[in-house]
This record gives sequence, structure tokens and C-alpha cells, in this order.
Amino acid sequence: MDLSGRPIVITGGGTGIGAATARACAAAGMPVLIAGRRVEPLKETAVQVKAAGGRCEHMQVDVTDPTHAATLLDAAEAAFGFPWAVFANAGRGLDRAGHRTSDAELRDIFEVNFFASCRLLNEAANRMLRRREEGGVEPSGGHLLACSSCVAKFSVPYHGAYSATKASQDMMCQAMRAELKPAGIHVSSVHPISTVTEFFDVSASLSGRSQAPTGLDRTPRLFRQSPDRVAKAIVRCLRRPRPEVWTSRLVRLTVAARSLLPRIMDRQFRSMLEPDRLKPSD
Ligand SMILES: NC(=O)c1ccc[n+]([C@@H]2O[C@H](COP(=O)([O-])OP(=O)(O)OC[C@H]3O[C@@H](n4cnc5c(N)ncnc54)[C@H](OP(=O)(O)O)[C@@H]3O)[C@@H](O)[C@H]2O)c1
Repeated sequence: MDLSGRPIVITGGGTGIGAATARACAAAGMPVLIAGRRVEPLKETAVQVKAAGGRCEHMQVDVTDPTHAATLLDAAEAAFGFPWAVFANAGRGLDRAGHRTSDAELRDIFEVNFFASCRLLNEAANRMLRRREEGGVEPSGGHLLACSSCVAKFSVPYHGAYSATKASQDMMCQAMRAELKPAGIHVSSVHPISTVTEFFDVSASLSGRSQAPTGLDRTPRLFRQSPDRVAKAIVRCLRRPRPEVWTSRLVRLTVAARSLLPRIMDRQFRSMLEPDRLKPSD
């Protein structure tokens, strides 16, 4: 599919995977609206996109604001025309043992990673369906993408809450993919492996840890990738829609093993345990 002129909205577009995706989409000819809370990284990404000849607008939003989805889609339409795709990418981690995770922490992480991404996907889907009813839409009616994770399909110690948010996102995408197919609307979940971004530092700081002990520095090189690699795979998926975006065959094998050999996989993941994290919560 030729992506030229098809606008996309990307949350968390100032940094990491979102920024790389904004650059890659713009290079493929898509006008891009990027959003996030910090203005500086958004501006910087917009400058990079424009310097490379692309079209990019940015908007400061907190995705936990229930109006963010409508605000972004309205702004994209005003700037570029009806948005053809959205990428619900804004997200955060939590580095915490399950038994020490409070209700408030669970709600906070679900608010950003799950509820906010559903809000954007739902708002975009409803607009695309309304447009279709009005007869103004082409056979390929749009594309909704959510940045899930490889850990949507299996969980690892100290990242249970994060995995739960990503698994929930994945389940919504699976159902919406079937529901919206008759309207020509594609729904794809993106499942990055460890990606070299701010993610682990932000997660450690939100978790009150000075550094990320189970983060990137401990991830074998084989399981680390650049955000540009994820972005390229996303653009391939926009060109030729597919249900899920993966960038590591090896990790997909882990997904199969998790399901077929749970006892063996539990043993593997126990090697990540840190004895001092077995303390009961205060
Ligand atoms: N890095 C990895 O290893 C990895 C692996 C699998 C999946 N993922 C997923 O990939 C996505 C992007 O993460 P990343 O790796 O690129 O890390 P990142 O650079 O930290 O990106 C996260 C982005 O989300 C934005 N964001 C966070 N909370 C927000 C809020 N309340 N409102 C608006 N924007 C918000 C941040 O911008 P502001 O702080 O300026 O708001 C930031 O641009 C996330 O969904 C993450 O879960 C990452």
C-alpha cells in the first residue's frame, strides 16, 4: 500500500519507539502528528522529521486525560485531513514484585498503558466507522496500532503489572481486529523485545529505584534492538497489514515455550530473582 498522504497520530512520539516510528512514517510519505507530555522531545522529533522533508506537527497531551484521543484526532484532521492510522504507543513500566505492588500503582500503570490506548483506538475506530457510513471512505478504511510488548505473551519477575497491561492491550487488539475487519479497518499489536530507549530508566525512576536492575544492561545483546528496527517493522505492517508486529523469531519461540513448557520456563525465569525482593510489603 502506498502510504503517501495518509496521516498518522502517534502518542509518545517525542522519544524512543514513537519518535523512530514518526521519522519512518514521515519518510514513507505519511503526515505525522506526535504527542506526549514533554514539549522539548516532541519539538526535537518534529525538527528531525521536517529536516528530512517530512510533515510533522506536535501536541502536548497527557494520555490519561480522557479527552486526549478526540483532541489529537481533531488536530490531525485540521492539519492534514482525516487520520488514516493511529499508533497508541505512549507507555511506561513498573519494576516491582507482584506482592509489593499497591492498588494505586496498578491503577496508574493501567491508566497509561491500557485505558489510554483503548481510548485512542476506540475513538479512531468510531470516527472511521462513521465516515464509512457517510460513504466517504475507501475500501481500506484505516489502521489502528497499539504498542504492546513481547511480555504481553509471557511475564518475567518484577514486571508482572507491566505485562498485565500489555496482555490486556493485546486481547483488545485481537478482538477488535476481528470486529473491524468487515469495515476494512486493520488492527495490529506491536510486540517489541528490549529496545534501547529511555523506557528502563523512566521505569526505574517511577519505581523508586536508582537504576534498572532487571533492565537493559542485563539483557543479552541478542535480545536488544534499536527503536529504528521496530519502526521499520511498523512501516512494513502499515504497507502490508498484519495482525502482529514482531522483530525477533527467537522471542516468538519463547512465547511458544511459555505455553507448552510452563515448568521449564518458570525455572528459567527464576534465574532473574533477587533474594532481597522477597520481603513482605511494609
Ligand atoms: N523499550 C522497550 O524495551 C520496550 C519493549 C516493549 C514494549 N515497549 C513499549 O514501547 C512503547 C514506547 O516505549 P519506548 O521504549 O519508546 O520508551 P520511551 O522512550 O520512554 O517512550 C515512552 C513515551 O510515552 C510517553 N508517555 C508516557 N506517559 C505518558 C502520558 N501519561 N501521556 C503522554 N505520553 C506519555 C513519553 O513521553 P512524555 O514522558 O514526554 O509524556 C514517551 O515519549 C511503550 O508503550 C512501551 O511499553 C518498550
